[in-house]
Amino acid sequence: MISTKNLFDAGKINKKFWDEGEKKLPLLLTRIKDHQQGFYSIFETKTYIKEIDKIKKFTNKNTHWKNIVVCGIGGSALGGIVLRDALQKNNINFYFLENIDPDEICFITNKINFKETLFIFISKSGETIETVSQYLYFSELFSDKNYIKKDHIVIVTGNKGFFLEESKKNNYINFNIPENIGGRFSVLSAVGLLPASLMGIDIDELIKGAKNMSENFLSLDPKNNISFTFSLASYLSDEPIHVFMPYSTKLRSLGLWYGQLLAESTGKDEKGFTLLPSVGATDQHSQLQLLSDGPQDKLCIFLKVKNFSKEIKILKKNIKNKYSNLLMDKSFNQLLNLEADGTIESLQEKKISNLTINIEKISPYSIGELLFLLQGSTAFLGEMLGINTFNQPGVERSKIITKKLLKQ
Ligand code: PA5
Repeated sequence: MISTKNLFDAGKINKKFWDEGEKKLPLLLTRIKDHQQGFYSIFETKTYIKEIDKIKKFTNKNTHWKNIVVCGIGGSALGGIVLRDALQKNNINFYFLENIDPDEICFITNKINFKETLFIFISKSGETIETVSQYLYFSELFSDKNYIKKDHIVIVTGNKGFFLEESKKNNYINFNIPENIGGRFSVLSAVGLLPASLMGIDIDELIKGAKNMSENFLSLDPKNNISFTFSLASYLSDEPIHVFMPYSTKLRSLGLWYGQLLAESTGKDEKGFTLLPSVGATDQHSQLQLLSDGPQDKLCIFLKVKNFSKEIKILKKNIKNKYSNLLMDKSFNQLLNLEADGTIESLQEKKISNLTINIEKISPYSIGELLFLLQGSTAFLGEMLGINTFNQPGVERSKIITKKLLKQ
């Protein structure tokens, strides 16, 4: 699944450091376990299984909505966006309101018919001012229209906070985010799974893929542990900027999600990695020049999809023109993957750090695997850097200052 060959061939990773790094796997895994995080251990728990069942039952009764608006920010929004963009199966209009931009709020308010709309408010802490203010605004609109709020509002939140209190007061249906799962590691809890299920995605397959990768993440064999291999290669290539470039438009938002995961998890003690989200082939025409001839401070992470949902031939008729020889019998699928290979080869010629993640196809199973792989490798990276992957003091500081400014 991960090919690190180019890093070795280009002399970007020293074999001696790699062998030493591999020996640290058991220690790093023990350190991760010391944080007592649930992102890798929840899948078998009774509460998780019960919550999944509740999500499925809720979905069965809620297939009639024309629109679903998900309000949340950061880790409470980005996972759902990835799942929508990569896997949504039904035709419900899913809007993720992950900002408090008045223009966007106005756009949604004017666009939807409230009668046909379900709102999901997601906040682990239950106190995030952006999500709280969205809730206050929309719940007032429901009251003004004399709609029964509990029919249109669902809450996904942690064990305490404003949203839990509102839930109890108004009898909203409420889904739980376990205490030991942090926002950016929560896509495989109700945070991502409730929207996914409402999108018609097979969440059992999603969980199966993630669970498979979580078992692999706990493997003490460094040659077999994919999350560890990815993190060791990312760490030892020693580049501050990581370019994440799937050759698939559907996976564009995976880069945004991974960018948040990497930034909030590793950006501590003046250390950390900057992620540059990208998409192939589109960004060959915007970023590639910089990647190729700009400062050599980037690790380019390519993601290739072997089989797309359809094979589309570029030319169907035998029309002669100056491109027909080149493109005859070729499909867009081949062209896209050939362009990925061409980009990789051109960077390899210049000894630019690069590695490739390969997946067979975009499916709930493979997305489950990928999401977990990136979470697991981020946890390893944090331990390699010697920082606390799971806190976010910088974000908390800004939340406190904003509330102080509001009071003034
Ligand atoms: O990863 C994190 O912890 C953050 O990005 C949170 O997801 C974000 O700040 C939103 O917080 P909450 O879910 O508590 O509203």
